[in-house]
Amino acid sequence: MKNPCNILITGASSGIGEALALNYGGTGASLFLCGRHEERLDAVAEACRHRGATVFSRALDVTDLRACEEWITGADHEHPLDLVIANAGVSAGTGGKGENAEQVRYIFAVNVEGVINTVSPVLHLMRARHRGQIAIVSSITSFRGIPGAPAYSASKAAIRVWGAALRGHLFPDGMEVSVICPGFVRSKMTMDNPYPMPFLMDSTKAAQIIRKGLERNKPRIIFPWPMAMAVWMATILPLSLTDILMRRLPKKPNFYP
Ligand SMILES: NC(=O)c1ccc[n+]([C@@H]2O[C@H](COP(=O)([O-])OP(=O)(O)OC[C@H]3O[C@@H](n4cnc5c(N)ncnc54)[C@H](OP(=O)(O)O)[C@@H]3O)[C@@H](O)[C@H]2O)c1
Repeated sequence: MKNPCNILITGASSGIGEALALNYGGTGASLFLCGRHEERLDAVAEACRHRGATVFSRALDVTDLRACEEWITGADHEHPLDLVIANAGVSAGTGGKGENAEQVRYIFAVNVEGVINTVSPVLHLMRARHRGQIAIVSSITSFRGIPGAPAYSASKAAIRVWGAALRGHLFPDGMEVSVICPGFVRSKMTMDNPYPMPFLMDSTKAAQIIRKGLERNKPRIIFPWPMAMAVWMATILPLSLTDILMRRLPKKPNFYP
């Protein structure tokens, strides 16, 4: 969608979400921003106001369905939302001690349920208006289960496929749905990765690419292109071959003991 006026972004207190807020903030839009860390979120909100945006920020956890429903429907009531970006996410992997069930459930709760909690409250409102755009932040890791981050890659696969299906389902209602699949982007999520990250990109550049893709209503916004090519290769090669390569990839550190 070109020139959305009322935009809601989850996970706007750092990284890609922060960069998107600053980018859209420069257009004089009304922004609804959330994250859990109030101080960081307030700092982002203030920076967006300096760029000319009207900002409403809310410290909330996207796993809290009630809080999401109340926040999102309230925001839509005041300023009918043009664009909702379900960006909040967490990552962790098998590095160190493996990935226990608690870690798997936590990653799914934020990355899958959190996205559902963000998108669902606004769907019927946008459908009734016959207008609105949903952007779901998945990952380039969603195309192949990554041994170093099983729950993360699986959670991102679930929302990538959900978003692609919603796009067709909601088309007759005049809605647009795009799935975003970034490669490595510099953020809190990647800063402690103890391995080289090919084609690591700044979050500001990532936000520019995402906004351009959303303006064109692209079904999938995948970047940077060399990583997109690598992923495409990985999906067409026999699994027995890519298995060998995947086993050699470094592992994302875990966070549960
Ligand atoms: N960086 C990459 O290389 C990369 C690549 C592919 C996809 N992605 C995806 O891009 C999205 C943004 O990640 P990022 O790289 O910008 O990392 P980040 O800097 O860690 O940002 C994550 C954001 O999500 C928020 N968040 C996490 N859990 C939340 C929860 N339960 N409730 C509400 N907000 C929550 C964080 O806010 P608080 O800290 O305030 O809670 C933060 O604002 C994620 O979905 C991630 O999976 C990132």
